[in-house]
Amino acid sequence: MKVFIRTYGCQMNERDSEALAAKLLQAGHTLAASEEEADALLFNTCSVRDAAERKAKGKISHMHKLKKRNPDLIIGVAGCMAQRLGDRLLEELPDVDFVLGTGQLHTVCDILAEIEAERKRIVSTEESFDVLTEMGAHLATGSWHGEIAITRGCNRFCSYCIVPYVRGREISRDKEDILREAREMVGRGVREILLLGQNVAAYGLGGNTNPPEPGNSPFGELIEALNEIPELRRIRFTSPYVSYFNDRLIRALKDSPKCCRNIHLPLQSGSNRILKAMNRQYTRESYLDKVAELRAALPGVTFSTDVIVGFPGEDDDDFKLTRDVMNEVGFEQSFIFKYSPRPGARSAALEDSVPDAIKEERNQILLGDLRDRVRKKLARLVGSTVEVLAEGVSARNAERWVGRTDTNYVVHFPPVPGVRPGDLVKVRIEQSNVVSVVGKIV
Ligand code: SAH
Ligand code: SF4
Ligand code: F3S
Repeated sequence: MKVFIRTYGCQMNERDSEALAAKLLQAGHTLAASEEEADALLFNTCSVRDAAERKAKGKISHMHKLKKRNPDLIIGVAGCMAQRLGDRLLEELPDVDFVLGTGQLHTVCDILAEIEAERKRIVSTEESFDVLTEMGAHLATGSWHGEIAITRGCNRFCSYCIVPYVRGREISRDKEDILREAREMVGRGVREILLLGQNVAAYGLGGNTNPPEPGNSPFGELIEALNEIPELRRIRFTSPYVSYFNDRLIRALKDSPKCCRNIHLPLQSGSNRILKAMNRQYTRESYLDKVAELRAALPGVTFSTDVIVGFPGEDDDDFKLTRDVMNEVGFEQSFIFKYSPRPGARSAALEDSVPDAIKEERNQILLGDLRDRVRKKLARLVGSTVEVLAEGVSARNAERWVGRTDTNYVVHFPPVPGVRPGDLVKVRIEQSNVVSVVGKIV
């Protein structure tokens, strides 16, 4: 069968789609380049905000015209929205043939075979731990970049968040298994590995929601082991929870020069009152202390973050506290989300009290701060020479290549013969733009 996969949501979902594609190819299917030429459509969906669900549902409804033309077309909905809504999706979307939850992704080929044999509608949403090992499949793309999901699920239950309900309990992959996969990727030419998990620094702690004792960080040990792989150039990870950066993890980062000096550290809010209502187990003070500790251990480290504006009860003072923390840390990048109540998550019981216009206003203020800050930081890079991992031709300008510093600045430069994607090059920065800088290889 020719299968077309469309992905919504986070990097975890992107990674799952890659594993789905690899499984389909192994079973003798091929991948379609567009919906029009496919025998089966697979939508790997997200539930994190209402808009994410609406977008996917809209797209799936649109497939009605293709199904009318070709009644044999199979349409499947997989991932987080599939898990959350289950058989309700069959009612809402009459063209859908199967619903595949996050614990059942690895059964995709069996489901397709079953539907092909006898036309019927299938809903499969049981939790299964097989998904952990089964979803390790990779496409042999020859890319410089590879991703490994080292944990699945989440046990933290932040009050606004649907992820623990749709992704199930947190489980960690076996360390040797991860290292074997990493070595295999590097053997294929991968030079940068991104470690993925909803609460990635909780790796290896057995799902315990208390941050680890001093001296204990299986995640830190994993990074140290990856740092030893000779041909690997860079290690990145996302997303860690601030309280898991204990002495052991910070030492591991310090001792692992391949681990990038850029940390995504979700803040969510700078107001202790709101953090408490969000069930985030840190305060603005402890968050800022951790940032200071990381800066002292990792000179030049940059930070990015996630923030929610308009959580129930967030007033002007709470918002100001968030804005202040953001400016104080000086995040190089921030992802700002307007609060969206998720039925099933605990905060859905609270009144969604902040009007959308105020959420939007707060969103714009934080985006404005970010723009000004990033422009200034980029301008300061002009004249310096930075190390860049070359990624390949820029999507915006075919005459330039693009790459990143380990602090995650985007750098454009004219290519020189002999430089291949995945190589480290030194670039002298000559000019700064709004979100990137331009220079020449020296
Ligand atoms: N596991 C990651 C976050 C995954 S969801 C972590 O803990 O860092 C990505 C981001 O979406 C979250 O960090 C949060 O900022 C945002 N988010 C989650 N639920 C949301 C909701 N109900 N409304 C608005 N934003 C939300
Ligand atoms: Fe959601 Fe919190 Fe888990 Fe992140 S840590 S996935 S925000 S519950
Ligand atoms: Fe969305 Fe699921 Fe990721 S809800 S953000 S795709 S874990």
